[in-house]
Amino acid sequence: MIRDLADDEARRALRLKWGTIPEGVLPAWVAEMDYAVAEPITEALHRAIDDGVTGYPRFEHGGELGAAYSRFARRHFGHAVDPDLVLPTVDVTAGVRLALDVLSEPGPMVMPVPAYSPQLAIAEITGRERVDLVVDPDAARAGIDLDRLDRLFRDGARTLLLTQPHNPWGRVFSREELEGVRDVLTRHGGRVVSDEIHAPLVLPGAEHTPYLSLDGTADHAVAVVAASKAFNIAGLKCAQVVCGDEATRDRLWRVPMARNDSWSSLGVVGSVAAYEYGDPWLAALLERLDSQRSLLADLLAEHLPDARMRPLEATYLAWLDLRAYGHDDPAAVCLEKGRVQLSAGADYAPGLDGHVRLNIATSPDRLTEIVRRMALAL
Ligand SMILES: Cc1ncc(COP(=O)(O)O)c(C=O)c1O
Repeated sequence: MIRDLADDEARRALRLKWGTIPEGVLPAWVAEMDYAVAEPITEALHRAIDDGVTGYPRFEHGGELGAAYSRFARRHFGHAVDPDLVLPTVDVTAGVRLALDVLSEPGPMVMPVPAYSPQLAIAEITGRERVDLVVDPDAARAGIDLDRLDRLFRDGARTLLLTQPHNPWGRVFSREELEGVRDVLTRHGGRVVSDEIHAPLVLPGAEHTPYLSLDGTADHAVAVVAASKAFNIAGLKCAQVVCGDEATRDRLWRVPMARNDSWSSLGVVGSVAAYEYGDPWLAALLERLDSQRSLLADLLAEHLPDARMRPLEATYLAWLDLRAYGHDDPAAVCLEKGRVQLSAGADYAPGLDGHVRLNIATSPDRLTEIVRRMALAL
């Protein structure tokens, strides 16, 4: 069911990931998968194009998108979401920005770091100070230090930007960890924006707990979700803000239209098809990613034995500590000497040397060649 794109197909389909790098370089950077889009999605999109669905989407909360997401959340996470508390937005980053802008007090925003790089700037562009909660690169397990979180809120922080499952940590937070976060937040009356874009990509062995599924979170949190990462449809431009209560939904819905009006009709079509009919494809994807993560572990043991990788519990993005190989910027070395495009670790954790993020959502052959080239380069 998972069809690997041939190189020429991938160059045509993935305009950024494959289309902006020199011929002969293997791309393992931006978070897109080298797989053909699931058939229920392409069929729905073809139908929509034939029907001329190229005008404005319906400006509504709930609707078919809310209903489709609500059913998906119940099936996959056992989470009861009121469809009418689901609002469309153009993409997850815009949804996070909207939530911060509209819901959060102007005080500092806590950002666990390393973090998804474009969101490192999001506090500043909403007029807030960013305070980093940095994970020690030598820690055996990446986690949120609750004592430090408590101190930051005691010192004036007002919002936590939570990413869970986490990119690039690869972590799925346990219910207990999330309850600890909730307890800190409620103690200080803070807000949480929970970026859960990677929730459908939890790999065998772990389980996603939506932050809003915890008691006592409805009035201080929103989740921002999308079908885009798990189904390779980021370019269709549609994400969803899930609210915990009507008051929050109304505050977001009443903003002037210019602040949130630009999700796309085809994005709604693609997202509804993914949520309603994408389960078999998603199951096959998770199987493939599970075997890719095992393959990566084997390849690292064979070719890059001094690389450190914490267990990859979710996503297709592996965070590799390559400090043992002695390069400040191993991504640059791998590009120059190995013709492999990785993401530089310092993009996610400013000032951190020796790390890269490697995208494993490709074919086994390509992943093998990527690691082989990295080993030669390093
Ligand atoms: C944690 C996280 N949030 C958001 C995004 C981007 O989502 P969007 O393109 O919908 O803004 C990514 C992309 O990889 C991500 O990893």
